[in-house]
Amino acid sequence: MSRKSIHGEWSNRWIFILAATGSAVGLGNIWKFPYITGENGGGAFVLVYLLCIVVIGIPIMMSEVLLGRRGKQSPINTMKTLAKEAGASRHWQLLGWSGVVAGFLILSYYSVIAGWALSYVLEAGSGTFTGQSAESIADLFVGKISNPWVLLFWHSLFMLITMIVVARGVQRGLEQAIRLLMPALFILLILMVGYAMNSGEFMQGVMFLFNPDFSKLSWGGVLTAMGHAFFTLSLGMGAIMIYGSYMPHDASIAKTSILVALADTLVALLAGLAIFPIVFANGLEPGAGPSLIFMTLPIAFGQMPGGLLFGTLFFVLLVFAAWSSSISLIEPAVAWLVENRKFTRLKAAAIAGIGTWLLGIITVFSFNYWSFSFHFAGEKKSDGMFDVIDILTSNIMLPLGGLFIAVFAAWIMHKQASQDELAMGGGARYQLWKFLVRYVTPVGVTIIFLKAIGVF
Ligand code: TRP
Repeated sequence: MSRKSIHGEWSNRWIFILAATGSAVGLGNIWKFPYITGENGGGAFVLVYLLCIVVIGIPIMMSEVLLGRRGKQSPINTMKTLAKEAGASRHWQLLGWSGVVAGFLILSYYSVIAGWALSYVLEAGSGTFTGQSAESIADLFVGKISNPWVLLFWHSLFMLITMIVVARGVQRGLEQAIRLLMPALFILLILMVGYAMNSGEFMQGVMFLFNPDFSKLSWGGVLTAMGHAFFTLSLGMGAIMIYGSYMPHDASIAKTSILVALADTLVALLAGLAIFPIVFANGLEPGAGPSLIFMTLPIAFGQMPGGLLFGTLFFVLLVFAAWSSSISLIEPAVAWLVENRKFTRLKAAAIAGIGTWLLGIITVFSFNYWSFSFHFAGEKKSDGMFDVIDILTSNIMLPLGGLFIAVFAAWIMHKQASQDELAMGGGARYQLWKFLVRYVTPVGVTIIFLKAIGVF
């Protein structure tokens, strides 16, 4: 294959691994995973999530990387090119478009939550948490989200720093930072787990996470677990596809995908192990929702020795993790603007960024002026438009996008093409991948989806 990306390439496969891990590890692992696990009863939910990572997530990640690396363009143009190459309908490019829309929608709320983390850097650094009770820490959080101006300020700041990196180009943007900060985040999480071990209720936390009780899990919960497998690995909207398009040709797709998925899962489980013991030790509610980590971790930072330093550092690292994820949410749109509209990266980033920023205002208001509740797949959701956007993207658009990616890679693309890219011969490992994307993913996604919305 002689196609080349006009946007440049990662210098080697480690940079790809770093960038893809940077995209995968983010608020999804540290903020979302604990709170949806809490809402869905713990162990059984975690088990389904882990199963989805292995049988659906990893094979789809391989498919996305392989499509991206073969097409070497934004997901929209990659799908157009590859469909033509395979003699299939040009409508396959709709997959790219739906990814662009999903990316905008996700980033619009992602940035608001990352804004919470940004503001907690200041709170932690100025000693707000020191010696505080669980109630006053909850009050602080509620006070913050009920003021739309505060949320808007931090959301704007986060969008701004995201756009700066995107404008500079993903390869140059965060490379250095991720190299250092990812391991630091990892070490700090282990430290937090160490604190949780000594806080008294560690075993209750472990049991909650790993002792499955299927009576607590609804089909709506199964759909959420599957949707989160897509979300946490950045799958189903073209983020990993565009990162794959910058991947050098000599790197093994299977090995890198497995490595990224492993690192991502480890971070999520560590976050769970750090948070639930604190939840139980302080008599808090595991199903508290999106506020969970902001109401639990500060309690720990307020009590542990060195909490001022560790607390500040933790939220700084959380912001960096969110930052390296957010750029991948908008990169497919920016790359398309550069390819098709001939915009400079700066102009493309500015336009995409302002659009997302505006959309984010919906989420800003959903925690105060516009909050309302509704039911979806048998569960009550009470954060208004934020929940609507989250369900629409994580539970519907990403799994659907992933399903079509699987169908394209396994049924439409010529066998020779996928074999060339995966470069693992036609043997058992290739057959296993093919079986998973051909049958398991499409059937699994469809059944879970229909079950959750109560079709049968
Ligand atoms: N995976 C990131 C997280 O867990 C979020 C993210 C980045 C994402 N890019 C994505 C989610 C693309 C879905 C699709 O925080």
